[in-house]
Amino acid sequence: MQLLSRLSSLLTILGLSALTLLTLQGLGEALRVPLLLGLIGIWAYFVLELVLTLWRSRTSPHLLLGITGLADISACAVPLAGPLLGLSPRESALMCGVWVLKLISGSTAVQLIGRVIANEARNLLGVLYVFGIVLFTASVLAYVLERDAQPQLFGSIPGAMWWAVTTLTTTGYGDEIPATLAGRLLAGFVMVCGIAVFALWAGILATGFADELRRRDFLRNWQLVAKVPLFEHVGPADLLEITRTLKPREAAAGTMLCRKGDPGDQMFFILAGEVTVATTPPVTLGAGQFFGEMALIAGTLRSTNVTAATAVSLLALHASDFHTLIARSPRAAAAIREVAAARRGQTVAQA
Ligand code: CMP
Repeated sequence: MQLLSRLSSLLTILGLSALTLLTLQGLGEALRVPLLLGLIGIWAYFVLELVLTLWRSRTSPHLLLGITGLADISACAVPLAGPLLGLSPRESALMCGVWVLKLISGSTAVQLIGRVIANEARNLLGVLYVFGIVLFTASVLAYVLERDAQPQLFGSIPGAMWWAVTTLTTTGYGDEIPATLAGRLLAGFVMVCGIAVFALWAGILATGFADELRRRDFLRNWQLVAKVPLFEHVGPADLLEITRTLKPREAAAGTMLCRKGDPGDQMFFILAGEVTVATTPPVTLGAGQFFGEMALIAGTLRSTNVTAATAVSLLALHASDFHTLIARSPRAAAAIREVAAARRGQTVAQA
């Protein structure tokens, strides 16, 4: 499914690029025809994709709801409008611009921005309010100071407002420039205010982003930690602490996770997949089990190699956090020690 969604994004980007090229003046027939055919091919693929989604929506109706459903339906329906309205192929191709909705709906980054803006709406509106006040005051002052010198540009407050917007946003097209000394002093002040207002916006958005990412990571880690049997009896406050300390890690099959003789700086909980412990005979550990604890408990070097037998999903607990966990959760600590002692017994017996 992930592959299909990547293919869909790739085709969307290709389609939008073809559409962009088609608007070039003097594009030869030799390029125009393949580009148009490419657009038709991509549209046909989107129709197929919609048919598949309609089929799947029998059991999962949510697939057709929200922005994703809207994007899928518009991607097929809107490009039909051109030929139906009798527009030229080039004009009809413009309708494919609606495919940008597919990129928006499939993008987690856009969803993240949406959430950040929703979370920070109050603060952002507060800064917008300040922006409005500065804009209006600057426009009135520019009108008062410049209307006699440049009546054609600053002869009305709306006219002066265009100057205020381009100056406040530090864009400065240069089509309206104050001519009087007072007007120029005002311009300098407005530019500084513009920088301050936009710095505030940037600050609010940056903090919002960082908060949202931390919240998302925390929720994901919390769900992962809750799956580890060892933490079943840990109280909510301690679970919160453990969630903050455990770091998710993915490893491909064959990755060496612990090397015999290396110092042990972390232990691992297996969430999915299997690892092989190179004892004789080798031991396989799977989801819910842990490894790498012996070096941490005894302060010794790694007793043996541990490699990923399949792709594994792990939670890593660093040595310093391991000791905090042991102090906070005696039950989990006792369970880890018990397992470590049994394993040491086996490993020593084999040696
Ligand atoms: P450590 O010695 O830190 O690194 C290698 C790990 O392999 C070790 O911790 C244990 O977690 C694990 N291990 C060692 N012996 C056994 C065993 N007999 N059974 C299961 N796991 C083991």
